[in-house]
Amino acid sequence: MSYRYAVIGYGFIGRRHVKTLKTFEESDCVAVCDINSKRLKEVKEIYPDMPVYDNAEDLFVNEKLDGVIISANNKAHKELTVMAAEHGCHIICEKPAALTVAEFDEMMEAVDKAGVSFTVHQQRRFDKDFNTVKRCYDEHLVGDIYTIQSSLYGFNGNMHDWHVYKAEGGGMLYDWGVHLIDQILYMVKGKLKSVYADVRNVINKEVDDYFKIILRFENNVTAEIELGTYFLNDQPGWFERHWFVGGNQGSMNVNKFDPEGKIVRTTRLLENVDEDQDKSAASYGPTRSFGIPAPGLIVTEPLPKVNVEQSDYFVNYFKAIDGKEEMLVKPEEVRRVLCVMEACRESARTKRSVDFE
Ligand SMILES: NC(=O)c1ccc[n+]([C@@H]2O[C@H](COP(=O)([O-])OP(=O)(O)OC[C@H]3O[C@@H](n4cnc5c(N)ncnc54)[C@H](O)[C@@H]3O)[C@@H](O)[C@H]2O)c1
Repeated sequence: MSYRYAVIGYGFIGRRHVKTLKTFEESDCVAVCDINSKRLKEVKEIYPDMPVYDNAEDLFVNEKLDGVIISANNKAHKELTVMAAEHGCHIICEKPAALTVAEFDEMMEAVDKAGVSFTVHQQRRFDKDFNTVKRCYDEHLVGDIYTIQSSLYGFNGNMHDWHVYKAEGGGMLYDWGVHLIDQILYMVKGKLKSVYADVRNVINKEVDDYFKIILRFENNVTAEIELGTYFLNDQPGWFERHWFVGGNQGSMNVNKFDPEGKIVRTTRLLENVDEDQDKSAASYGPTRSFGIPAPGLIVTEPLPKVNVEQSDYFVNYFKAIDGKEEMLVKPEEVRRVLCVMEACRESARTKRSVDFE
């Protein structure tokens, strides 16, 4: 038996959700809803027999559904989630689940009352670059990790359609911040003690297009997240994903979504070098401490291999719906990410670090 799902919001990601639901044996997409008639016409061209609706109420009244994927604009997530819960549907909501923690709490009230399941499409927990870093973190591949830098840079400062409007839930903190924060919180377990953030509108008038976030954890790891949509460099691969992980037994660089990079170590840990021994100081260049390393001191190893696909998100989802696995993305985790995003905005406004847990 396959579960009957509808997709609400047939845009960039909604199109993919229809295909995914049709690909998995466990599910089918039996209806699509979008308030834009052009989008519904597009559905009919590809799936002529698919029932389509221009409003969610009609969808719920006319279709017998097990669940929905909500992939409409950010500002519509709350209303659509509450409606879906009231109609007894399981819910996968796109990220960010809500614009505020208060909105999210209202959504969860409706979900709990209806006794349906709720999760968010945080499929970037299955990105290859992230899982390479997570493996390094979990297996202590560079020793005790003290810093993790996660960054993503773009080139034209523009965002798509409604993403440039504040009222629609636009801006990069909502769009990508939610993924980048979720990845760090999923990897680094334990209490997050403080949040510092700089959130700016560099080119866009209404919404943020740059942020730097510093998360300090109780276990002494510091994570730094930086994203800029107008952060320019002509280095090859710059407009891609970057990670740097620093530990006391090496460092790891990971670049690109399909990761490239290395673990870098020294053949011995640095020792204090007294003046008499240090005959070749001149060869180090302008600084002794930060000069050129002695030949053979730096060694590299390939990145660890990871075997993940974004579609693993749905593999877990359907197992969880069948009660065979725990749902990977849990409401309390989603709420914690939203709390961090609110702390980021507060820190940016006050120019101070915010105590967290
Ligand atoms: N998880 C991911 O990696 C990922 C990637 C892209 C987008 N998203 C999320 O998916 C959502 C949609 O983003 P997108 O880029 O596909 O946007 P989009 O503009 O391409 O598509 C959104 C669609 O929703 C429709 N819509 C808006 N309000 C509606 C309502 N009340 N009822 C029904 N339809 C409605 C719009 O007409 C539009 O066709 C956003 O929340 C976004 O953050 C997630």
